[in-house]
Amino acid sequence: MRAFLVGLSTVFAIAASGQSQPYPESVDFPAGWGAPSPQPDRIILTFSGDPARTQSVTWRTDTTIRAALAQLSVAHGAPRLRKTAVDVPAVTTRLDGRGVLTAGAVSHHHSATFTGLQPGTLYAYRVGDGRHWSEWFQFRTASAGEEPFTFLYVGDAQNYIYELWSRLIRQGFQTSPDARFVIHAGDLVSDAHSERQWSEWFAAGGWLHGMLPSVPVTGNHEYRPLTAEDAKAKRSALSVQWRHQFTLPGNGPSGLEETAYWFDYQGARIVVLNSMEQEQAQRDWLDSLLTDNPNRWTILSFHFPIYSTTGDRDNKELRELWKPVFDKHHVDLVLQGHDHTYARGRARSFATNASTGVNRRDRKGGSVYVVSVSGGKMYDFKKGGWQEYDATLERKAENTQLFQSVRVDGGRIQFRSFTATGELYDAFDLRKRRKGREARFRERMPETPERVHDNTIPHYH
Ligand SMILES: [Fe+2]
Ligand SMILES: [Fe+2]
Repeated sequence: MRAFLVGLSTVFAIAASGQSQPYPESVDFPAGWGAPSPQPDRIILTFSGDPARTQSVTWRTDTTIRAALAQLSVAHGAPRLRKTAVDVPAVTTRLDGRGVLTAGAVSHHHSATFTGLQPGTLYAYRVGDGRHWSEWFQFRTASAGEEPFTFLYVGDAQNYIYELWSRLIRQGFQTSPDARFVIHAGDLVSDAHSERQWSEWFAAGGWLHGMLPSVPVTGNHEYRPLTAEDAKAKRSALSVQWRHQFTLPGNGPSGLEETAYWFDYQGARIVVLNSMEQEQAQRDWLDSLLTDNPNRWTILSFHFPIYSTTGDRDNKELRELWKPVFDKHHVDLVLQGHDHTYARGRARSFATNASTGVNRRDRKGGSVYVVSVSGGKMYDFKKGGWQEYDATLERKAENTQLFQSVRVDGGRIQFRSFTATGELYDAFDLRKRRKGREARFRERMPETPERVHDNTIPHYH
């Protein structure tokens, strides 16, 4: 949620093929579970500007709370944080979900953005209205320059969020307690506007959301019809909660603010794309953003995979539109979701020398493409893997919840993928001396068996 008004962007749902197994919800909640109250809940950190100097927090209450604020202090070991804290006023918006399919609730959402912060500094904050307060949370601002850091990346949470995404995201935090943010690569929920599913997502992450900034990406499931008429007309709109509950950068292409955005973090440019919107404007925006990039590393995240991993899915138009830009600028990591499997591989691009006729590896490009899934819904991997693509599949998995921990350390990136039990499942390193070059790849995959439906606990029955 930002101070300026942004209209709901309506897009037409892109037909997504691929198998969808019947998947009954297996957890029931009592009436009123997840309803807002005067006590702040759904407290979540996000970046809306330079992470070295700004930090946004957003939270929810019922409609009795009309004016809200945050308190912020440099963190210290003494308990009287309120003595050193300053008040930061919040912007309050009203979400009226009545008349919106699966939404229904009326709530107030409050956001405060802390500005003028010191880089590399631990801060404490709480949110409330002067009477009802959250607990004190702590966060650390980014350093002003290139410094080692770790972040998490997860694929679709989407289904069985409370039941199963909870253990996955909590294990992610236990494995990488120093992670500075978490990228959610789309389909955070299954029904974009569903109050119950957003309640599950916030309950599963719990207090992690208040201390580990989230970098949310829109998937196709963040777009659903608002009304029965919309459903009939196959018209979808962005989750009505999205802009109320996440305070995100408004630096994307016109109309895609807070769904396509970027920020720089200690030597890496992180760009979130909205793959539901496949217009030239977003490609041109990305191209200029990567042309004018002072960082050594470039990491992209969006939802639809460039190389699909399941069923008869293929995102050919997206691949043809975006991949040339990735190649041109030597994008290092492409972090995706949507296919409810795990895949890691690289484009196989060879250039033929006109005089000798010899093929050699084309040094343009070199991006590593990853698809992952974090929630409980699982698909079958494509028969034949990626053989239909000009790309090499290096590691895959079925039927496995995974999180990824990515360490950016000067000239090296260490990519590690872990199961929900904290067991290492996949790994590789990238090395790069100077920006503007293709990274060198180093395989680090553990010698553990590939996980498939046949050697894991049956999923469908
Ligand atoms: Fe999904
Ligand atoms: Fe999806």
